[in-house]
Formats: sequence, C-alpha cells, structure tokens
Amino acid sequence: MESVTSDANDFTSDKVVEPNVPEASSSFAAEKRVVPRKPRIILAASGSVAAIKFGILADSLSDWAEVRAVATKPSLHFIDQKGLHPNVKLYTDDDEWSSWSKIGDDVLHIELRKWADAMLIAPLSANTLAKVAGGLCDNLLTCIVRAWDFSKPMFVAPAMNTFMWTSPFTLRHLTSLEDLGVTVIAPISKKLACGDTGNGAMAEPAFIDSAMRLSILTSEPTIQLLPALPHTI
Ligand SMILES: Cc1cc2nc3c(=O)[nH]c(=O)nc-3n(C[C@H](O)[C@H](O)[C@H](O)COP(=O)(O)O)c2cc1C
Repeated sequence: MESVTSDANDFTSDKVVEPNVPEASSSFAAEKRVVPRKPRIILAASGSVAAIKFGILADSLSDWAEVRAVATKPSLHFIDQKGLHPNVKLYTDDDEWSSWSKIGDDVLHIELRKWADAMLIAPLSANTLAKVAGGLCDNLLTCIVRAWDFSKPMFVAPAMNTFMWTSPFTLRHLTSLEDLGVTVIAPISKKLACGDTGNGAMAEPAFIDSAMRLSILTSEPTIQLLPALPHTI
C-alpha cells in the first residue's frame, strides 16, 4: 500500500524547508527559506448520479491542493476512473481490505484521516448522509468520517432527487452534520437526471471549488447555507 502518513496534519504549520542560496558572508546552515506546502484534501464520492462530475472536481481542486480520492462502491458506476487526474489516487473499499493482512499493518481509513487537512464529500448521497449523521461506518468513506478530527474542515455537497431532498429525514441528518461543524454546500434547483425539475442537484463544481478554496486558504467562513436547506422550501 502506498503510504499516506504525514508527520503533521496542519498544512499551515507543516512547511517544506529549503536552503537559501548562500551569500558570501552568511552561514549556509543558518539561512532557510520556508515554503508552505499545499493543503491536503480527501475528495470523496457517494452513489449519486452527480458523481459523473467527480473528475471535474478532482481537476479543479488539484490546481491548488494535494488530492486523494475515495469512492463508495455505488459511486463507481458514475465515475470515469481512467479519466481521473493523474496526480489523484483513487481509494476504494477493496483497497481498505487488500492493504491490510496482519496486526501492525497500516489501516487505510486511519492513514487517510491522519494525512488530510480537509475533506469534501461531493456528491453526498441520501444514504451516506444518513449513515454519517448516525455515525455508521461500514465502508472506507464512512470510516474516515467516523474517525475524523472535526477541528479540521469538512464540506459536503448533497445531491439527490427532490423527493429525497424534501424528505423530513434530510433536515434531521443535515442538522446533525452542522452540529459537528460540517459545512453543507446546498444543492441547486434544475432539471434532474431522472427528468424531474426541482431542488436537489449538486452545486456546480466551480462553486464547490471556490467555496473550499476561499475557506481553506483564507480561513474565511464562505457560504450562507440555511436559506437553501429543506425546511425553508
Ligand atoms: C441510476 C441511479 C442514480 C441514483 N442517484 C442518486 C442520487 O442522485 N442521490 C442519491 O442520494 N441516491 C441516488 N441513487 C441511490 C444510491 O445509489 C443508493 O442509495 C446507494 O445505496 C448509495 O450508496 P452510497 O451512499 O454508499 O454511495 C441512485 C441510484 C441509481 C441506480
């Protein structure tokens, strides 16, 4: 298994230290130039049809972050794995189990959790929303969430049919996530893959990318979400 372990989890304090070009009279060892590393993001997909846009998200996040991808089994029906950005390694439930054979081996969901500075679940299916809201952890994605350090940013971009989005379960589950400090990037209204028109489509990848970039690189709270949550429609 490729190691994903890092010594530090805070990208703002984990620096790559490079030696400066020495000046004639200065001590080479004493002079260092500090270069901040890129933020490390876990980009995870669950089984919404919006996972067809996973590759676009991976491409745009890769412009400014180190990205590792995680996909649930149903989401693999929608993801073009061969077209994924070459720097983005994709991890699945099979990797979780094939990388472990004995006590002492790395456990993938823990290593990814230690490696990451932030996590984005896009798309977030109704099923995975319900599972993470209840703390269930029966695959790689949900095990990472269950082990997550919620002082680090987590973003979710729900995507589901309008009937699912307006179900009373959705508000219950989103409220649990918000209580944990998770940022919910609200879905939008448009013609859905099933042919219906209504709210529940995943926010556009460019919007998700900008929201995360602003929040992570500037530590600014970015999005006012509540007006688009189900209890307000
Ligand atoms: C063609 C197709 C499209 C689907 N689209 C969605 C969707 O947009 N949102 C959603 O929440 N579930 C959708 N589902 C249902 C999920 O794939 C299903 O609930 C699955 O168990 C989700 O698993 P996961 O959350 O572990 O990825 C779809 C199912 C099919 C067959």
